[in-house]
Amino acid sequence: MSTPRGQMVLTMFMLSSGFQMDSWRDPRSRSEEIGELSLIADMATAAERAKLHAVFFGDGVDVGTIRDNNIRNTGLYEPISSMGALIGATDKIGLVGSVSTTFSEPYNVARQLTGLDRLSGGRVGWNIVTSLFGGYQNFGQSEMPSPEARYRRAQEFVDVALKLWDSWSDDAVLNDRVSGQWADISKIRDIDYEGEHFSVKGALNMPRSPQGHPVLFQAGQSPAGLQLGASVADAIYTAQPDLESMRVFSDRVRAQAVTSGRDPGSIKILPGVVPIVGRTAREAEELSQELESFIDLVAGRRRLSFAAGISIDDLDLEESIPAERFVEGPQNSSRWHSFRRMALEEGLTVRQMIVAFARAGGHRILIGSAEDVARDMIDWFDRGVCDGFNLDPPSIPDGMNRMLELLVPLLQERGYFQTDYTGDTLRERMGFARPAGR
Ligand SMILES: Cc1cc2nc3c(=O)[nH]c(=O)nc-3n(C[C@H](O)[C@H](O)[C@H](O)COP(=O)(O)O)c2cc1C
Repeated sequence: MSTPRGQMVLTMFMLSSGFQMDSWRDPRSRSEEIGELSLIADMATAAERAKLHAVFFGDGVDVGTIRDNNIRNTGLYEPISSMGALIGATDKIGLVGSVSTTFSEPYNVARQLTGLDRLSGGRVGWNIVTSLFGGYQNFGQSEMPSPEARYRRAQEFVDVALKLWDSWSDDAVLNDRVSGQWADISKIRDIDYEGEHFSVKGALNMPRSPQGHPVLFQAGQSPAGLQLGASVADAIYTAQPDLESMRVFSDRVRAQAVTSGRDPGSIKILPGVVPIVGRTAREAEELSQELESFIDLVAGRRRLSFAAGISIDDLDLEESIPAERFVEGPQNSSRWHSFRRMALEEGLTVRQMIVAFARAGGHRILIGSAEDVARDMIDWFDRGVCDGFNLDPPSIPDGMNRMLELLVPLLQERGYFQTDYTGDTLRERMGFARPAGR
């Protein structure tokens, strides 16, 4: 066995209904507990037993897809409150949550994350998002700001948050009972920020947190998104269905990091992967078919049509989307291009595309024995196109347990994943230096 090039970072997407759409219909699911602490506490402790670096809550700020009976990608667990609740239920695992820069203010967010980082002893991460899925109607706005406008605000938002996090020196708290001085006020500085979107006097009303500031995650794929990620993020989440697209993405992130004056090797790139794991390849295939049987094809057709921006109501399930329905245009997302590839290059039928989208939503899906899946993940890692993975549990709890109990131990056995936590904070455990105050 060759020696691994370091070890992977592994986090787990906390989608309490399962990453595969409609997998909550599995009779073994715990869907009656969605929204309750018991469910996420069990998920996080299972991930902690497997020594994962962190669990990760995505978020959206509108009712969105719930109305379409798709509860996968919604904010049923609000990240700040959920991370807070999990602090007491866990000990070492990192807690990462999405918070939107489009629909919040930096002073609030900087405080909330500092609070969580202090309360958890330095285990918190922030996934910086600009609200891909909408929500403007809930915040007094008449339309969704353009992606460019959202990213301009995001860049400034993060800059203000960083300034607030550095508004206290690390040694500002004296706690000197004799002199009666709790803090050295000369070490608490206003930030006096005036910018395009924000005017913030500062300073923060909380001391610098154990990690200096939370670990920063980001997941933008567009040029503006990528620029934000490469300039500020410690770790980057991404959905890449195959090796070639993964390589192109990594190269772009690393090149952009250099342009932003950063060491390209210092950023951890973590693609999502949906592992459907069996004790044998045959068992995995059976599980995969069982999971497929939960997919609502009628709703699935609507969701696919909406996501691709293409009308497919009249098509038979067994035919492919015709080429003329894919109209090229600057507005087409990377997701649109991957749908086009599926239909025209890979020849997938409407049914197969519904299933693929419901299963993986653009992330990579790996179906097989734990050995097969581990080999595949190790291959990407060894090629240097990624630094670990965000594990998307196909179903809860069954798909998650198989992933954590069959797959992760194999990665550990082969030396590719930690068998215990080292370091005191999420930042240290992920291999990042503590940022010096500005
Ligand atoms: C693993 C992963 C998790 C994401 N989580 C969220 C989220 O919680 N909320 C959100 O609004 N967008 C989320 N996104 C979307 C990204 O933030 C980003 O908007 C998307 O990848 C498209 O890139 P772009 O905004 O640069 O076009 C996520 C993306 C990925 C790959």
